[in-house]
Amino acid sequence: MKVYLDNNATTPVDPAVLKSMLPYFTEKFGNAASRNHSFGWEAEEAVEDTRKIIANELNAKTREIVFTSGATEALNLAIKGFCERNAELGNHIITQVIEHKAVLDTCKEMERRGWEVTYLPINKDGSVNPDDVASSIKKGTILVAIMHANNEIGVLNPISEIGEICKNRNVAFLVDAAQSFAKLPIDVQASNIDMLAASGHKMYGPKGIGFLYVRQRNPRINLKSQIDGGGHERGMRSGTLPVPLIVGLGRAIEICSKNRSEENRRLQQLRDKLLDGVLDVLPDTVVNGSMEHRLPNNINFSFPYVEGEALLMKLEGIACSSGSACTSATLEPSYVMKALGHSEELAHSSIRIGLGRFNTESDVELAIQEIVKAVISLREKSPLWRMMKKHEIS
Ligand SMILES: Cc1ncc(COP(=O)(O)O)c(C=O)c1O
Repeated sequence: MKVYLDNNATTPVDPAVLKSMLPYFTEKFGNAASRNHSFGWEAEEAVEDTRKIIANELNAKTREIVFTSGATEALNLAIKGFCERNAELGNHIITQVIEHKAVLDTCKEMERRGWEVTYLPINKDGSVNPDDVASSIKKGTILVAIMHANNEIGVLNPISEIGEICKNRNVAFLVDAAQSFAKLPIDVQASNIDMLAASGHKMYGPKGIGFLYVRQRNPRINLKSQIDGGGHERGMRSGTLPVPLIVGLGRAIEICSKNRSEENRRLQQLRDKLLDGVLDVLPDTVVNGSMEHRLPNNINFSFPYVEGEALLMKLEGIACSSGSACTSATLEPSYVMKALGHSEELAHSSIRIGLGRFNTESDVELAIQEIVKAVISLREKSPLWRMMKKHEIS
């Protein structure tokens, strides 16, 4: 079996999370909306426990948390729901070029509906410049959507600075925190965040559950629901709540939060070992994105003169990816690499490694060994690489 090193795509469910979920599939199977008996009350209590855990984690109120099927749905609800409800205030949205497709494709849909969208460029290190946000806000701008951590290169955006700009200019601020929530501390009050989306399966919780934080005071954010029927989640997202998944989400957040500093320290050590191990032998490797402002578990390399897909095929013992999981099905080079200013060839030569809770030092040693061996062997077969090396020697 391959060693799993793609924890930015998804994480395995922590055994303690699974254990917490199991009773809610069987004996505690009630519908959280059933008001007439203890089965319903028990389910509702479990749901409210998780709502409290999320609210505490964000410094928010429980009534500000709306459960969804994941970050994609939460981001759709945030962008479409906010724009539809506030259309009289303007028709301009600001985002940036390397957001996840859940934001970019939703913004494209808003353009089809007649909205104007500004896609900000990124700095060389992969982050958004807050000055660009400030200078793009104009009359009619109602929403800024900027991710906290990028899913391909792990780069962190200065969300507190951007939040302050949005607050001062009276523009709502949406943060996609799918990669960072619970793993890094986030305070929606201190960072002036109005809406925030996350998914359970990026933090050792189950797939199919996530949430949207929607600010209720200073200012109150109003959304038009995107799924109607039954008025669950204070009318913002109807549908019977998946209680076992919600319980698992709560437990996953508790574990991340409790062990956060220790876990991040360990992951960063492993990541740096991997980085050094590769760079020591392959010095012409390009490291994509800031090393200073970055998720501790992520590294993204480009290997000039090596084709990323061919490299992945050679990495027999490890599972990693050549871009985000959602776009790696296509042969298009990653739009994130292109936005960093890479040539088509260099963009095609990138791989992403996402370390996780269950990875060990020997996994990292194996990864170094496999990557180095595969890159050297592919380069030996590359006429361009051989020509370049000959040129360097002569
Ligand atoms: C940054 C980011 N945003 C949004 C999403 C979408 O999450 P989900 O597929 O769980 O809805 C992901 C998942 O890949 C992500 O990494």
